[in-house]
Amino acid sequence: MRRIDASRTYRILESGPIVMVSTHDGVRPNIMTMGFHMMVQHAPPLIGCVIGPWDHSFAALHNTGQCVLAVPGADLARTVVDVGNCSGTEVDKFERFGLAMSRPAKVKAPLLGDCLYNIECVVHDDTMVEKYQLFILKAVAAWSNDARKERRFLHHHGDGTFTADGERFDLRDRMTLWRQFQVDL
Ligand SMILES: Cc1cc2nc3c(=O)[nH]c(=O)nc-3n(C[C@H](O)[C@H](O)[C@H](O)COP(=O)(O)O)c2cc1C
Repeated sequence: MRRIDASRTYRILESGPIVMVSTHDGVRPNIMTMGFHMMVQHAPPLIGCVIGPWDHSFAALHNTGQCVLAVPGADLARTVVDVGNCSGTEVDKFERFGLAMSRPAKVKAPLLGDCLYNIECVVHDDTMVEKYQLFILKAVAAWSNDARKERRFLHHHGDGTFTADGERFDLRDRMTLWRQFQVDL
């Protein structure tokens, strides 16, 4: 084994699907890119998300308690990076990147029409925001965009390096202890 610096941990564990976070601060919608997230609970579905106070999105999420997590396909890789390299304080990112908006059911933040999945969320617990910038979100509605041809998720390995989903293994028949969680998307 080659010992590596523990500060590189994110390069190993960050690689869940990269997501984009849409918010609406009451004036206009905004969008950012986020790699630091994790599932916390099945039911109700809770998601932990780290969003820094340096992000324009932080105040919108904190003040409105609402956002949308949009999962892009691999075809949107460049947009994902560009969205995460400019701020809604300076630009209207929906306009700059020509992002299509779709109407949400339960929150004010728009769905991203070009993404594979959109998850409408409300802030469930903000007690760890001050210490860790960690929001616990609850998914209140979810959408699948079945028209998109590119189905591969993008995984961020830190610092702008990505992989797209490769071969998928179906080992559901071995998940004997967890059958109650087996649902199709
Ligand atoms: C690949 C990638 C992953 C990112 N992950 C996060 C993250 O997990 N949390 C975060 O606060 N910012 C993250 N960022 C940075 C924000 O997306 C970036 O600061 C963005 O410009 C914020 O936009 P806003 O100021 O309009 O909210 C990431 C950026 C990129 C490119």
